[in-house]
Amino acid sequence: MLRPVPQPEEGAGGGRRSCVLGICEGNGWILREDNQSEPCECQERMVSRAASRGMGTGIPKRYRELSLSRKPICDLDPFVLRHVRTFVEQIDMQLSAGKGLWFTGDVGTGKTSLAMLVSQAAERKGRSVAIYPVTRLLAEIKNTYDRESGGSYMSLFRKLVSVDLLHLDDLGAEKRTDWVLQELYSIVNERWQDERSVVVTTNITDLDELRNEIGSRTVSRLVEICGDPIPIMGPDLRLTSAG
Ligand SMILES: Nc1ncnc2c1ncn2[C@@H]1O[C@H](COP(=O)(O)OP(=O)(O)OP(=O)(O)O)[C@@H](O)[C@H]1O
Ligand SMILES: [Mg+2]
Repeated sequence: MLRPVPQPEEGAGGGRRSCVLGICEGNGWILREDNQSEPCECQERMVSRAASRGMGTGIPKRYRELSLSRKPICDLDPFVLRHVRTFVEQIDMQLSAGKGLWFTGDVGTGKTSLAMLVSQAAERKGRSVAIYPVTRLLAEIKNTYDRESGGSYMSLFRKLVSVDLLHLDDLGAEKRTDWVLQELYSIVNERWQDERSVVVTTNITDLDELRNEIGSRTVSRLVEICGDPIPIMGPDLRLTSAG
């Protein structure tokens, strides 16, 4: 039986950290039955999160206040919401199993909002998350080729393949070139091999069209990670909410 190591009283002005797993008292240590202490799992998560700091966009302002139980999300298709809710409730287990989700649909149907909920749930559990519109990801990769940029390709690549969750937004919006196909394949393949999770959004609803756009080997691996794409139907919510 493991018990949390008691947290010392807070010093003047000191803030308290809480354990993202709800196991220790926030100090990163637990007591075994023989009164020896051992590190709490939350320490490993903190290290992994620290390594991914500064990657991607984080959760953009527009999507920060989203919740499955509040408008506008709660108005989406109940079948889709049930699926996403279950995934989010099991986020720890799903990420450990390298499972993700994939949303497809027309412009403005709520795909990115749903994907952001998944990323938000992962962050709340202390998981490392990198959120990228794919066009920006490719631009950041290109930027590492510039000697002046100070960032190395391998360092970015290693981070991209090792975060607990890689959120690829708007896959297929990038211009198709051999280089793009190769980069996407390298990242997705590496994550697939290591059983790491990916969440994807795309406007390309037809799987054959997507195979053509990003390569069938990449699509095949994404399907194994994320399962079948979840179609998000409906009008462009940007237009309806503006009207
Ligand atoms: N159920 C909903 N009802 C009304 N508005 C919504 C709903 N879900 C999301 N929105 C709002 O609609 C807009 C579009 O949502 P979102 O960005 O998630 O769409 P998208 O499918 O990712 O679009 P795109 O294909 O252009 O990237 C956002 O402003 C979002 O806050
Ligand atoms: Mg989107």
